[in-house]
Amino acid sequence: MANEPHGGTLINRELEGQQKEEAIKKAESLPSLTVNPWVVSDIELIGIGGFSPLKGFMSQADYESVVNNYRLADGTVWTIPITLPVTEEQADELKIGDEVALKGEDGVIYGTIQLEEKFTYDSKLEAQNVYGTTEDKHPGVKKLYERGDVYLGGPITLLQRPDHGEFNAFYMDPTETRKMFDDLGWKTIVGFQTRNPVHRAHEYIQKCALEAVDGLLLNPLVGETKSDDIPADVRMESYQTILKHYYPEDRTRLAIYPAAMRYAGPKESVLHAIVRKNFGCTHFIVGRDHAGVGDYYGTYEAQEFISRFEEELGIQVFKFEHAFFCTVCGNMATAKTCPHDKENHVHLSGTKVRGLLRDGERPPKEFSRPEVADILIKGMKQN
Ligand code: ADX
Repeated sequence: MANEPHGGTLINRELEGQQKEEAIKKAESLPSLTVNPWVVSDIELIGIGGFSPLKGFMSQADYESVVNNYRLADGTVWTIPITLPVTEEQADELKIGDEVALKGEDGVIYGTIQLEEKFTYDSKLEAQNVYGTTEDKHPGVKKLYERGDVYLGGPITLLQRPDHGEFNAFYMDPTETRKMFDDLGWKTIVGFQTRNPVHRAHEYIQKCALEAVDGLLLNPLVGETKSDDIPADVRMESYQTILKHYYPEDRTRLAIYPAAMRYAGPKESVLHAIVRKNFGCTHFIVGRDHAGVGDYYGTYEAQEFISRFEEELGIQVFKFEHAFFCTVCGNMATAKTCPHDKENHVHLSGTKVRGLLRDGERPPKEFSRPEVADILIKGMKQN
């Protein structure tokens, strides 16, 4: 049985049939705003219920409550602001009460917002409380500082789901994943967030979890990531390969998570868990430095932070220590299960792995499955 959605009700901000046709026609004559791909992905996730209980972009009360207390104004746990930023000039042209068309950079009207509020915000405070730093070297903070100074709040309507191109075959909205879990007879489902190719440590923690639950939803984030992350198309090919060769077909499913990566570590781990709960997962994995970047967060800071909300979150969190291959044990392990010294542990940094792949070399099989390595090598050549 799929899990309860966050807040109790799966939000659906999409119109259907005749109503949708009329809304699309009407949207063409509304005042409009051009929004970036990050905002388009937020419109989609709100619209399909991935961000339940949000019905739109946050009001000032919700925003301030999230930034200061990691809860919506009504007390529901929520740790990342979901906002619609505009410049002051753009804000001045719009009136409270307006319905505004939200156009992507490709000219497509993805949705509309019923404008209820315009408010200014303290970007340094948001940076500190959400990302844990005010440094603009942090990729999430950099994006935050580049935004306009005003946030628009109000409920949205999703008029057009973004086209996910070659990933469409792996696109499922929360209603569909829930139905799929029910059809498969899975009562317990672990969700796995990743923005990387699946390496042996990922595989190990997924399979440890799979020993305890009915099914695994491999749910890679395919929205905006930083430029040195491996591109989503290459990753998607690698996921299909590793699933085919190393996972039981009847206990694993692959679906995309079409969100932007915030790199907000602890705070993002809670968002990631909430979204997977909305997709119907009953369990969620948080390993080492979840959603981290550089040295901004401690290795287990996300685990400590999410533990504060665990009872109310309504999704069980599997926490895993740093996993590695131990050459003495001859298998994957963590400090919890392996007594041997560090020099016996195969450990490669992301930079080292990228270097090897760029040179056309496979990382050791203790680190990456050869089938995955080959796809990454090919992918690095093309990009
Ligand atoms: S993330 O930004 O999406 O979190 P990544 O794709 O590297 O990055 O991680 C996916 C999940 O695997 C996260 O929960 C992360 O904490 C976990 N993880 C990654 N590497 C390891 C490892 N070596 N040991 C334990 N957990 C790990």
